[in-house]
Amino acid sequence: MFNKRTKIKALLATEPANQEVTVMGWVRTFRNNQFIALNDGSCNQNLQVVAALGLLGDETLKRITTGASLKVVGELVPSLGKGQKVELKAKSVEILGDSDAEKYPLQPKKHSLEYLREIAHLRFRTSTFGAVFRIRHSLAFAIHKFYNDKGFVYLHTPIITASDAEGAGEMFRVTTLPFDNPPRNEDGSINFKEDFFGKSTNLTVSGQLEGELAAMAFSDIYTFGPTFRAENSNTTRHLAEFWMIEPEMAFYDIEDNMNLAEEFIKYIIQYVMDNNREDLEFLAQRLVEEEKQLAQDKRSELGLIEKLEFVLNNAFERITYTEAIDILLNSAAYKKKKFQYEVKWGIDLQSEHERYLVEKHFKKPVIVTGYPAAIKAFYMRMNEDGNTVAAMDILAPGIGEIVGGSQREERLEKLTGRMEQMHVPVEEMQWYLDTRRFGSVPHSGFGLGFERMVLFVTGMTNIRDVIPFARTPRNCEF
Ligand code: 4AD
Ligand code: MG
Repeated sequence: MFNKRTKIKALLATEPANQEVTVMGWVRTFRNNQFIALNDGSCNQNLQVVAALGLLGDETLKRITTGASLKVVGELVPSLGKGQKVELKAKSVEILGDSDAEKYPLQPKKHSLEYLREIAHLRFRTSTFGAVFRIRHSLAFAIHKFYNDKGFVYLHTPIITASDAEGAGEMFRVTTLPFDNPPRNEDGSINFKEDFFGKSTNLTVSGQLEGELAAMAFSDIYTFGPTFRAENSNTTRHLAEFWMIEPEMAFYDIEDNMNLAEEFIKYIIQYVMDNNREDLEFLAQRLVEEEKQLAQDKRSELGLIEKLEFVLNNAFERITYTEAIDILLNSAAYKKKKFQYEVKWGIDLQSEHERYLVEKHFKKPVIVTGYPAAIKAFYMRMNEDGNTVAAMDILAPGIGEIVGGSQREERLEKLTGRMEQMHVPVEEMQWYLDTRRFGSVPHSGFGLGFERMVLFVTGMTNIRDVIPFARTPRNCEF
């Protein structure tokens, strides 16, 4: 069997007793014609492979270059070197794949994140992206574990839909009609009856509406899948294709919803703290180095791990939208005209406002409830005041909005009233309204933007660096 090997993570945790082991991985560095730092992606740390002088011929030595893949058989022995408990005393080294040192784009030095984005197909092989994507994996696993342990059903909602869940109209169309000569109606508009699905379709912006249908049977469900938004926002927080987790719970009001969201976020952070310590420490150190270039007052007050601990140990602040506006209006930043966008009751909070609230004012995650109905989606439950809805957004330091959710409008008349007001096609959504016709119950849910969560936990600052292959306006490489 070819692949009879031990992963480096396991070896580094083994007591060295001169036992023979086989490892395979990629060369990070090769020093003094003797010391190979080998990495196989199982952990951040490299295995030091020592090839005694004279063991390998000149031909082989020349081929041990950064990026080359090796199979090494040797003895696991205690290491005399600093920073590692064990090392591998090589008996044989086989080159599996050469890597031309002149042409290999990843040199054993620090590369900028911008450069690495251009070679995203290779950046997995760096320490930074190794750590980021192992943590991303852990977060995904923790998410499934959290909901599974609570008895939620994982629901696969469709990727292709005919509805706009958020009513924001930022959708990618899905069609097989020819561009040059599409079939047309008499009035000149395109005849989607001739299209693949017999109607106009798009990539989903959210699985929520379908999630609600299932919550009306299973009580508690969650989705975890890709969602798509054709919003032309070229920011460090927006992707055209991102992953979202959307739990939906029957018999939950807005308060229950907030409690679940807070417990959920803390649980997955704790999971990474418990299971990805080495990667977190590496990223924490990376952040310190990165911030050295910044002026003192621009640096984070807390290190990455302290920040995560702080979030775990403190209750999220809960305020209403109205209170948030008051805080902003009374802030020194407002008085000194530091905000670019207008502040008054009724505005959609801009990123600068959200960040002021969490980073300057409260210095911790904040849950904002009771937004004006006019700026929120049609399905949110109208409050007694007839003016605000039972919405909740969670804002995180350094990120801004990380969760958006609400209690849902379970009263049929009120819901259809709002749909009409907001020009949501009531006729086409009878399937959705059936939940309110047959055994309607108070229910709630929210959506966590997965990449924004990964940003928060890894301390990375650009959303393009926490998804393997980012899709953003004018960019769809790989
Ligand atoms: O606030 P949003 O639009 O809410 C919904 O889609 C609801 N249907 C969720 C629900 O109640 N089930 O999006 C939810 C979250 C945001 O808070 C943000 O974290 C993330 O999704 N998000 C994005 N992440 C990356 N790129 C984008 N373009 C994003 N748009 C939203
Ligand atoms: Mg939102």
